[in-house]
Amino acid sequence: MRASITHVLGARPNFVKAAPVIRALAALGHEQRIIHTGQHYDEKMSDIFFVQLGLPEPDVNLGVGSGSHGKMTAQILAKLEDEFVEHRPDVVMLYGDVNSTVAAGLAGVKLGIRLAHVEAGLRSFDTGMPEEWNRRLTDNMCDILFATSPEAIGYLAQEGRPPSAVHLVGNPMIDTLIANLDKFDASYASKTYGLDGKYVVATLHRPANVDTPERAAELVKALHQIAAQTDVIFPVHPRGRATLTKAGLLDSPRVKVVDPLGYIEFMSLVRGAAAIVTDSGGVQEETTLLRVPCLTLRPNTERPITITSGSNRLVTVDDVAGLAAKAVHDGPYDGELPPLWDGQAGPRIARILTSWLENADD
Ligand code: UD1
Ligand code: UDP
Repeated sequence: MRASITHVLGARPNFVKAAPVIRALAALGHEQRIIHTGQHYDEKMSDIFFVQLGLPEPDVNLGVGSGSHGKMTAQILAKLEDEFVEHRPDVVMLYGDVNSTVAAGLAGVKLGIRLAHVEAGLRSFDTGMPEEWNRRLTDNMCDILFATSPEAIGYLAQEGRPPSAVHLVGNPMIDTLIANLDKFDASYASKTYGLDGKYVVATLHRPANVDTPERAAELVKALHQIAAQTDVIFPVHPRGRATLTKAGLLDSPRVKVVDPLGYIEFMSLVRGAAAIVTDSGGVQEETTLLRVPCLTLRPNTERPITITSGSNRLVTVDDVAGLAAKAVHDGPYDGELPPLWDGQAGPRIARILTSWLENADD
């Protein structure tokens, strides 16, 4: 069967997750349409991922750009409604938990279009995070749910989603990592920045961490403490750049602040790092596979499997410097990987989706 499948992508993590799914669906001969909402638009936040991951050019870019959550979500919803009416697909594929994801869910569900969610069932139970609402709402709107880790199955069941709709498939972000592993050069930091010893990579972009001057000042102080012992490289997400810079981020010569990196460059940096300090969702998973110690500057995570099966640890602004020094000293983590994080999530999703569409009522 050849189905028409529309993928809605908008922000950096979406691109990394969608690439293996799109590739696997193409291999089964489906007709695919890619809509970029324009939520992320800088070359280093968007275009570079299409090039490096071999993603097809978007058929349409809605160009919504930045804005408040409500306005951004509303604009994407309105524009996608027109798109879905003009090119009505058999199913819309949604990824992760960004505003583009929930907006696409709303647009699709109101038109009665079948919806699939990749990375379903993650829960931080932190209702102060915009992503937690995006996830819950998206999961409740979707007809078929692809989960990356076993605990998601239980959460979806508790929320009343039928077991027949939920499939544990592994992690497409890990598919992308495995597919590109031989391109990650662990000596990238030494070649590019002239660092000859161990180093820590930092990434921070959560509103709770980078939106207020007070919190930014605490984080900058902690990063400077880490840098007193180990060089820090910080590819800065545009969200936090102004606040963190104002808080003195650039004041330590051993904190190297750089623009967001392309996927291959960033993962090269991570592969060669002694430890990572982050609040990123994806980085918690990638470090689990690469066995690089990961210190997550958050009070909770929607990815607890990266703690039980990986190198991840939740840390506070007060203990991060000490724990980073310990992680740098202790070296790589060695443990069992989460089930099905084997690089085959994309093909599993493609097979399950195809047979589901074949058996679906019109
Ligand atoms: C979004 C997602 C978050 C995800 C992150 C990945 C939501 C609610 N948040 O957060 O879950 O972890 O992406 O990176 O969807 N900006 C630029 N250039 C860009 C994009 C953004 O300068 O290409 C700046 C703008 O000032 C913008 C700010 O970053 O206002 C925030 O962008 P936005 O897309 O609203 O949220 P993120 O913080 O990127
Ligand atoms: N990433 C990248 N360059 C960077 C930072 C991140 O290529 O400078 C990649 C990395 O693979 C990460 C993904 O982008 O997992 C998503 O990143 P982000 O932290 O922005 O989003 P989140 O996973 O927190 O939603």
